[in-house]
Amino acid sequence: MSEHDAVEVIAAKRDGAALSDSQIDWVIANYTNGEVADEQMSALAMAILLNGMDRREIARWTQAMIASGERMDFSSLSRPTADKHSTGGVGDKITLPLAPLVAACGVAVPQLSGRGLGHTGGTLDKLEAIPGWRAALSNADMLAQLQEIGAVICAAGSGLAPADKKLYALRDVTGTVEAIPLIASSIMSKKIAEGTGSLVLDVKVGTGAFMKDLPRARELAETMVALGTGAGVHTVALLTDMSTPLGLTAGNAIEVAESVEVLAGGGPADVVELTVALAREMLAGAGISDVDPAEKLADGSAMDVWKAMIRAQDGDPDAPLPTAREEHVVTAPTTGRLVRLDAMAVGMAAWRLGAGRARQGAEVQAGAGVVWHARPGDEVRQGTPLFTLLTDEPERFDRALASLEGGFDIAPAGSAEVTAYAAEPLVIDRVVAD
Ligand code: URA
Repeated sequence: MSEHDAVEVIAAKRDGAALSDSQIDWVIANYTNGEVADEQMSALAMAILLNGMDRREIARWTQAMIASGERMDFSSLSRPTADKHSTGGVGDKITLPLAPLVAACGVAVPQLSGRGLGHTGGTLDKLEAIPGWRAALSNADMLAQLQEIGAVICAAGSGLAPADKKLYALRDVTGTVEAIPLIASSIMSKKIAEGTGSLVLDVKVGTGAFMKDLPRARELAETMVALGTGAGVHTVALLTDMSTPLGLTAGNAIEVAESVEVLAGGGPADVVELTVALAREMLAGAGISDVDPAEKLADGSAMDVWKAMIRAQDGDPDAPLPTAREEHVVTAPTTGRLVRLDAMAVGMAAWRLGAGRARQGAEVQAGAGVVWHARPGDEVRQGTPLFTLLTDEPERFDRALASLEGGFDIAPAGSAEVTAYAAEPLVIDRVVAD
């Protein structure tokens, strides 16, 4: 006789009860081994989405997902470890300059990353634009690279939190991705199992993010910070704006190129600001207070780590990046000041051009994407380039152009919109354990 049964657990959550520790352990273990069917887990996920979970339930759910797989151990490394997770945004290439930058400051960065699905890009898709670079590393290779170079960005192996892998795929097709307890436990089970000593979460808020409004983004951040802290991982979250896309590019190769500009001491100001802000948090979490990451960008040491990190995974950091076969330039329809550039519109356009995938396992185009030539606050002149759309398949232009429609506003000089315009802060708030 089994300790519980799936219908009992589903009915408890459907009726608004808190699940017991043993119900949670049972349902996760038995879903992982196939005893609890997908349709039963779908019903439970929907009951969780509708009725929520308290902090104890979320912590137990996270622990049960960690226990479904292996845990990594970086305690043999000679330096402290710090990782960062972003909840995903448009033009969010920050991991690329951040990992080598933090490594250049003396902290090891084990960055297990994913591929993109939908309008936000995936870090691995971006790096795979670099000729030769490979995402798959064994745990032993990862540890060796961390020890020698200090930074690894690679694919998460199938051994970490397998319960989450199964559940995430199910949530994707049952309208249950948006439940905060499920998002928080999904992200944190992987990060805690990965074994990082400290973690910085970049929780995005705005049109281009999972969380469209600040109260929900804050709730997600607080939940994740509590989970990390409770599991002994030093965890801090920054709430950052994702109503405007980051930098000037959204795509794979073009985001690598922009990241390399940042590592060379240039690049768009917002990308530099967020990279340095997150680096400071990671260093503080790892107990390093006497190194200024901005200096490590300026003196080329972050670039040296980048090149070593790419070479260690068979990539050629000096090879030309792939380019799209076709381009289409969109010019500014009027003269004035750009007062809005919508992250979702740009993300959808990049996705429709082939930079992202519509279903798991599909190919992405390395050269596809969108370059925008102005950011909110900039003056633009009628007839000058506002966007460059890039793809290998010109039949994609029409749908990409349709997503940009209504995605930006240019206000004439002296208008009320220009007078009222104020740049939103990029870092909105910082969330620490209470
Ligand atoms: N990323 C994850 O890993 N899990 C979620 O549930 C959402 C985003």
